[in-house]
Amino acid sequence: MSAILELNGVSKEFAVNGRRTKAVDNVSFAVEKGECLAIVGESGSGKSTIANMILGIYGTTAGTIAFAGEPLPERREKRHRRAIQLVQQNPLSSLNPRRTVGASLRLALDVHEIGPKAERAARIGALLQEVGLEPDYARRSPAALSGGQRQRVAIARALACESELVVLDEPTSALDVLVQARVLRLLAELKAKRGLTYVFITHDLSVVRNIADRVAVFERGRLIEIGTTEALFSSPTQDYTRRLISAVPVVSDEEAAMRQHIMGDQA
Ligand SMILES: Nc1ncnc2c1ncn2[C@@H]1O[C@H](COP(=O)(O)OP(=O)(O)OP(=O)(O)O)[C@@H](O)[C@H]1O
Ligand SMILES: [Mg+2]
Repeated sequence: MSAILELNGVSKEFAVNGRRTKAVDNVSFAVEKGECLAIVGESGSGKSTIANMILGIYGTTAGTIAFAGEPLPERREKRHRRAIQLVQQNPLSSLNPRRTVGASLRLALDVHEIGPKAERAARIGALLQEVGLEPDYARRSPAALSGGQRQRVAIARALACESELVVLDEPTSALDVLVQARVLRLLAELKAKRGLTYVFITHDLSVVRNIADRVAVFERGRLIEIGTTEALFSSPTQDYTRRLISAVPVVSDEEAAMRQHIMGDQA
């Protein structure tokens, strides 16, 4: 395995009312090709800021971000914008309401010149099927879809340009539990089939346990702990991580026992 994404000493400061605050503070980590790295931490810990810097939406105040072994320029090239895609929490705000589903997918294919023009209509149908929607959903507007269907379209669009790294910022948080489980399963299938790499931001540690290979824990802009999902759940080294884990709803006896084990008498 080799690192597809590498952050080295990355910081981000914002100036709010003349005061500078560090949203992300000297963060370094690498993501291996084909893995799912979860980013967890409480609200305001810098998770979305990291996503925005990986995407090139925000520049970094310090540090470097490398993709496939090359430092990413502040102004991303088209190939970078193709290879690194974002799926956000709310597809209603990320999909243009005036475009049909098909038109949104078509735009991604056209911008990045994916496949011969004559084949793009068929490609749209295939993409929709890949995310579990009938090809005739291409004619619908995003407003005429359920939350889960919309998120499937947003995922299809992220895959349309044959992306390699997908940053998912709370992709299932707005969905109800059953729909959430189906979308998670779809994401896991797509990752395996296409050999994708995910940076998966979530505040929901039961989602982490389902999908992540490794977990990075953030507290007030700092990376405080990183390790395999198994190691992090069974023997977290930081109190903060322990507190995050203890907030996960307990769903089975096995998990209850694990929680007891981790939390001791505090559980
Ligand atoms: N554009 C911005 N301008 C000023 N401050 C910002 C901006 N974006 C984020 N921040 C600040 O940076 C810090 C980290 O915010 P960020 O959105 O990255 O947190 P988060 O971990 O994604 O939180 P949440 O779980 O609530 O989404 C916060 O203190 C936030 O107020
Ligand atoms: Mg956020």
